[in-house]
Amino acid sequence: MKITIFGVGYVGLVQAAVFADVGHDVCCVDVDAVKIEGLQVGTIPIYESGLESLVEAGVTSSRLHFTTDLKEGVAHAQVYFIAVGTPPDEDGSADLRYVLSVAETIAQGMDGEAIIVNKSTVPVGTGDKVRARVESVLQERGVNIPFSVVSNPEFLKEGSALADCARPERIIIGTDSPYAEEVMREIYAPFSRNREKMLVMDQRSAEFTKYAANCMLATKISFMNEMANLAECMSADIEQVRRGIGSDSRIGYSFIYPGCGYGGSCFPKDVQALARSAGEYGYNAAILSAVEETNARQKEKIFKYIVQHYGVENIRGKTLALWGLSFKPDTDDMREAPSRVLLEALWQAGAKVHAYDPEAMEEAQRIYGYRSDLTLMGTKEAVLQGADALLIVTEWKHFRVPDFELLQSSLADRVIFDGRNLYDPQSVEQLGLAYYGIGRGR
Ligand code: UGA
Repeated sequence: MKITIFGVGYVGLVQAAVFADVGHDVCCVDVDAVKIEGLQVGTIPIYESGLESLVEAGVTSSRLHFTTDLKEGVAHAQVYFIAVGTPPDEDGSADLRYVLSVAETIAQGMDGEAIIVNKSTVPVGTGDKVRARVESVLQERGVNIPFSVVSNPEFLKEGSALADCARPERIIIGTDSPYAEEVMREIYAPFSRNREKMLVMDQRSAEFTKYAANCMLATKISFMNEMANLAECMSADIEQVRRGIGSDSRIGYSFIYPGCGYGGSCFPKDVQALARSAGEYGYNAAILSAVEETNARQKEKIFKYIVQHYGVENIRGKTLALWGLSFKPDTDDMREAPSRVLLEALWQAGAKVHAYDPEAMEEAQRIYGYRSDLTLMGTKEAVLQGADALLIVTEWKHFRVPDFELLQSSLADRVIFDGRNLYDPQSVEQLGLAYYGIGRGR
């Protein structure tokens, strides 16, 4: 089937590559000429395992192509996916400018029955705004072309985006049009072969499902971080508590890992946007505000331990080794990353940082290249040389089993601040190193 996708960000590009892989003929449109030119010659703007070869295969088979020409995109198909960004406004609500401008572009060019599918995360009611915008353009054009608007939110995670997209747990379709439903079933048939994964519902419920899912996951994390902080007050070990509660199948083990806060481009933005929308409806979503507040506090946690250990006046002049910069493993994304809050607090207190991350070094250079109190180094061992203490903020796999003897001999102050609970406090302390984890009874 012919499909056009507007926006080659994370969601648009991954979805396009996966659609092309199952045989659809996909045209990707973006106004960013640098990005499109790069993609035409195989330069992938994001780090995502397997994506480069999938895009290459799509281009080679001619089922995937990239253009900045909006008209060409509209002419290519009659099914249009909108996957452009919805950055937060100053007040935290989602900015719909790009979504509505794509809707307008489609309306200006379409000449047969069209299906406009919204994949971007958009506030409840956006589908109605898209419909109104398209209708008004068609009216201006003086034509009467039938069209449907569908909400089809995306649930992929950075770092496992291809697998999530190729083997989705559910496909949410929000529409009241039987024709649109039939076309969406055809498009997604290759992904729903062994088990019916498609859930068809009304458009607003589909839009809301996306926010409810992300807010539920963020709530689990903030709840666990709150429990970790309480465990600390009560001299209990949250890691044992985590296993204890996760074994209850109603609770489950996933998304209950305490840490130094959630980051990324989704949870912070979506929790904020839903809280804000709630306010517009005159409803005080107290849980969402608490989730956000707990997370902001949690991002300050490692710095608090450092202050507790050294005394705030003794941080000046320290050199601290930092493992991990990205907001989570398997990505180079540093948006809303806990590492940023920590770095800024350390600099403010007069410390220097030696940092290493397996993928986010370029990104860190782009954001903080101007800082003389940050040195980016090529290996996890290099940052230990001449450092006083080790800080861990991202749970990359190869941080899990470090050379403890090297840590002991390199770190002048023999102390580890672990924001992801990677190690067993007792074993580390037996090696002669002080250890601070999250919620581990200190
Ligand atoms: C999230 C959702 O998981 C996806 O389903 C959704 O599609 C996506 O947002 C989106 O809306 O686009 P993502 O932001 O890529 O995906 O990352 P997650 O793997 O969900 O991690 C988010 C944050 O939570 C990370 O900072 C991670 O370190 C933190 N986290 C996660 C914890 O602190 N504890 C946990 O137990 C799990």
